[in-house]
Amino acid sequence: MNRLNMNFPQYKYDIVIQNSFSNISSEIASVWSGDKIIIITDDIVEKLYLDQLSVELHNICPAIYSYAIPNGEDSKCFLVLNQIYDFLLSRHVERTDLIIALGGGVIGDIAGYAAATYLRGISFIQIPTTLLAQIDSSVGGKVAINFHGYKNMIGAFYQPLLVYINTDVLKTLPVREYKCGLAEAMVHSIIADSSLLECICENACNGNDTKDHIQEFIYRNCRIKVDVVLQDEKDKGIRKILNFGHTVGHAIEGLYGYQFKHGECVSIGVVAAFKLSVHFKLINVEKLIYIKTILSDLGLPIKIEGIDWLNVVKRIQFDKKSKSEKVEFILPVDIGEVISYEVDINSTLAEILAD
Ligand code: NAD
Ligand code: GLY
Repeated sequence: MNRLNMNFPQYKYDIVIQNSFSNISSEIASVWSGDKIIIITDDIVEKLYLDQLSVELHNICPAIYSYAIPNGEDSKCFLVLNQIYDFLLSRHVERTDLIIALGGGVIGDIAGYAAATYLRGISFIQIPTTLLAQIDSSVGGKVAINFHGYKNMIGAFYQPLLVYINTDVLKTLPVREYKCGLAEAMVHSIIADSSLLECICENACNGNDTKDHIQEFIYRNCRIKVDVVLQDEKDKGIRKILNFGHTVGHAIEGLYGYQFKHGECVSIGVVAAFKLSVHFKLINVEKLIYIKTILSDLGLPIKIEGIDWLNVVKRIQFDKKSKSEKVEFILPVDIGEVISYEVDINSTLAEILAD
């Protein structure tokens, strides 16, 4: 239960789940050899894990450089991307070199986009350090930056050579960030596997207390994502179910200038999707109440006081997933099953969401 294979027809890589960095150098050596490794991280993860990782990497590569960006969503932007390109240029990084993303989803997304675009693409490895990144963002090859307040507007599909998950790093993750990961696990459960709900509740506290369960928990989440992505790498069909809760979530994230965390906005987006399902008679109201109770018990937000739903709806219209006056939502018909459903974008939608 500690290795998943992302076996695309033309391309393969592994997602390895361990509880230390001790065999990372052999894992990397089995997929890459070259002269330089560039670790992109953030200023918090740098202090916690850069030295530990670098010691291991020196076993396979003498030249290791690192570049730390300010932590947080605001860094997922062109300005910081430019700074990363400048750094790569200053270190004479070539196509045969390797970029490692060491951090949460922000680092995975921006470092991955830098790797996808610098010199038309250089080798890339994900070492996710938040629960959210370990169960979701490091898997599947979506990399991006935000643009003019809109989430992930500039991006690419760019698969890594390896995803190396070290669950031990979760012991330093703040509780609020840990809960954000649980929000994405709720998404996985609702779209594909109702039995995962029990596992989420078992893992509801920080990684430290859940050593026995955490690897299996991460494995089960990654399994769901791998199964979906392998059917539809480029998000043209079934992969859209992974956007469950994200259409509203992304709009809230951008509208509030990233003062709420991605996982928190997804939690509110999950509730919004259930509300729409109840309105369109796709699911009964008891399921909405049930999901709200679980999210609250997990310590995730289910509403924002005074939220301006009309503006959220306007934002949704600009979302990259919207077409004309209708938006395709992924809505639950049961816990463990979702469908794609076109909804008119108008003030009625805001009223339903506000209800
Ligand atoms: P994040 O990367 O901002 O990390 C959250 C915070 O945790 C940061 O302050 C970081 O410094 C800190 N941190 C990271 N690891 C730590 C550790 N082990 N110990 C202590 N602190 C640690 O946020 P996130 O929640 O990991 O990721 C959110 C981002 O992921 C959003 O931008 C979202 O759009 C993106 N995302 C992408 C995908 C995808 O498929 N590419 C999927 C889901 C989310
Ligand atoms: N997070 C959505 C996806 O990976 O498709």
